[in-house]
Amino acid sequence: MYDVLVVGSANADLTVRVERRPGAGETVLGTDLVESAGGKGANQAAAAARLGGRTALLARVGGDAFGELLLSAQREAGTDVAPVIVDEAARTGTAMIIVSPDGDNSIVVSPGANAALTPRDVAAAKDVIAASSVVSLQLEIPMESVRAAAATAEDAGTRVVLNPSPAPETLAPELLAVADPLVVNEHEARQLSGLTDGKPGEWAHALRDKGARSVVVTLGGDGALVLDASGAHEVPGVKVRAVDTTGAGDAFTGALATRLARGDALPEAARFAVRVGAAAVTKPGAQPSYPTLEELDQLPGN
Ligand code: RIB
Ligand code: NA
Repeated sequence: MYDVLVVGSANADLTVRVERRPGAGETVLGTDLVESAGGKGANQAAAAARLGGRTALLARVGGDAFGELLLSAQREAGTDVAPVIVDEAARTGTAMIIVSPDGDNSIVVSPGANAALTPRDVAAAKDVIAASSVVSLQLEIPMESVRAAAATAEDAGTRVVLNPSPAPETLAPELLAVADPLVVNEHEARQLSGLTDGKPGEWAHALRDKGARSVVVTLGGDGALVLDASGAHEVPGVKVRAVDTTGAGDAFTGALATRLARGDALPEAARFAVRVGAAAVTKPGAQPSYPTLEELDQLPGN
């Protein structure tokens, strides 16, 4: 039915650019506020859909203007929003984001409706999970719902892509054991491997030893490291000028999931996803910066 079903969060991103981050007790002035579609789950879905993947999103939004913004962004990207639940009793999740001149960000998320996405919602989507090639997961919804989605996918033989972000202290062994791949950035890799120093290859091996079926370590401008049954593969980065890195990891993961669903091997899918992540950092915002296949062709380095 779908190449990719994303089960996860949807947030309205409220972004201000600043010259430098304020310290405790300090006030700084920023640019005009920009409201745009975000949330790690919704971002993955938008990325996958814009690239032509048959994509659906299971998420909760509030019955408010931000919920409308998120739904219309998904429809425009080409996502099937039939599984999205509009929760009149909750506010849509919001993310307060500041972006510094180098394109780096700091984010505070208020979960809102995301916190009400329950294992029961996941159970109701059992048939959709079973009929999808890949289920893509992150951690901005309750952990028991992530675990329910992973277990349901596992039972149905649906491949699970897991991005453990925001990084938890530890990850349940059952969750790690279904990740194929586990997609981590450097911070998440260190945190979950327990290796405070070392190299991406060592983190990836440690995470595989802990049970992940395959691992992708994303390295920002330096590309990615892939570890699967065929061994370790270095995927070089694509040099671009970073304007805003918000949601670049989500674009990477959504792109990766789409390609895996279409039958690519993991290293090949990661090579494609690195280009998608690079394209996303060249424009402001998360979803508004995600490329179509045509736009991806315009990226330098083709
Ligand atoms: O990964 C980026 C995303 O994190 C933003 O879109 C924001 O909503 C938070 O979920
Ligand atoms: Na961007």
